[in-house]
Amino acid sequence: MEQRNIHPTTRIPVRSESEQIRDQIIQFFLQANGGFVSTRDLSVRLGISRTAVWKHIQLLESIGFSFTVQPRLGHRLEIVPNIILLPLLERHLSATCQLGREVKWLSEVDSTNAVATRLAALGAPHGTVVVAARQTAGRGRRGRTWFSPVGGLWVSVLLRRPIPLQHAAELTLLSSFAMRRALMAETNLHIDVKWPNDLLYNGKKVCGILAEIRSEGESLATAVLGMGVNTNLLATDFPTDLLKNAATLSTARNQPVSHQKVLAQVLSQLDPWVEQLSTGQSVFPQIAKEWRQSCITLGQSVRVNTPAGLVTGQAIAVDDGGILYVRTQSGLMQKIHTGDVLFEEGQE
Ligand code: BTN
Repeated sequence: MEQRNIHPTTRIPVRSESEQIRDQIIQFFLQANGGFVSTRDLSVRLGISRTAVWKHIQLLESIGFSFTVQPRLGHRLEIVPNIILLPLLERHLSATCQLGREVKWLSEVDSTNAVATRLAALGAPHGTVVVAARQTAGRGRRGRTWFSPVGGLWVSVLLRRPIPLQHAAELTLLSSFAMRRALMAETNLHIDVKWPNDLLYNGKKVCGILAEIRSEGESLATAVLGMGVNTNLLATDFPTDLLKNAATLSTARNQPVSHQKVLAQVLSQLDPWVEQLSTGQSVFPQIAKEWRQSCITLGQSVRVNTPAGLVTGQAIAVDDGGILYVRTQSGLMQKIHTGDVLFEEGQE
């Protein structure tokens, strides 16, 4: 959990006017349920010219939508791309979910966490999601960079809930746990947790989480939960040094992963947990049994890189606060609040 200082000012719209119209157009096509929608109808309903409607449709085509055009009938939506836009995400969210009700999609960005932090400072609402097709300066934990080419799911979720600081560390555990459930449901692959919040397939990393928080007194003011998932990347996308420890899900299951379904499941799962944390109640004990069963770190000989140095020993337990207990060779039990469990051959 990393701390950054941002100061909220007045609220600005997360999506531009043009992005809001684009999303309304998508919504009309989804409602038409495979039927034709006329340009005239769209222009009347949106209060914009027919030329403007055409321009928006061209923009949609440029980001992967595909339409059939019939004179007099209009357009019929044929292909929906695997990207996160509000109307595409919302159809999969649980009815009560407050997360993901505002979505900023970007084709390229430095870091979705950086954008979410900037939007937080401008007053973006609780649950705002920032997604990018590609990140040029994706941030990893402990100042590392995160390799984020087109094909992965690179997303940040802004939380604005007064979660007591003593429960803040749970956010990353819960996010990775929600992501594990969602990925397993979507892919049918078995995914393990590596303490504290890495997800692995066959011993190789498929997801990392980076939470950046801003506190006010004893509570969180905002938290940005950044999640990076190697969904639809190819092994050939990775530089050789990363490939040693990274896996991609589409390669493992031989089929692409739906970003919309995965993210909607993660958000729908996280939402009530976030609300519970903000009432001052811990959530981790509720899921601890399943979490421990999925955690490959427990019972292993480990080397943990901690801010206080390297700890070597046997991973014995993770308590209800997410703290890892390692018994060192001298028999001493070390409590580790934060760190990286190193892979066999060294660094991640
Ligand atoms: C890790 O080091 O394991 C954490 C990686 C987190 C990467 C994600 S990708 C989306 C979000 N934006 C970022 O810049 N980082 C996180």
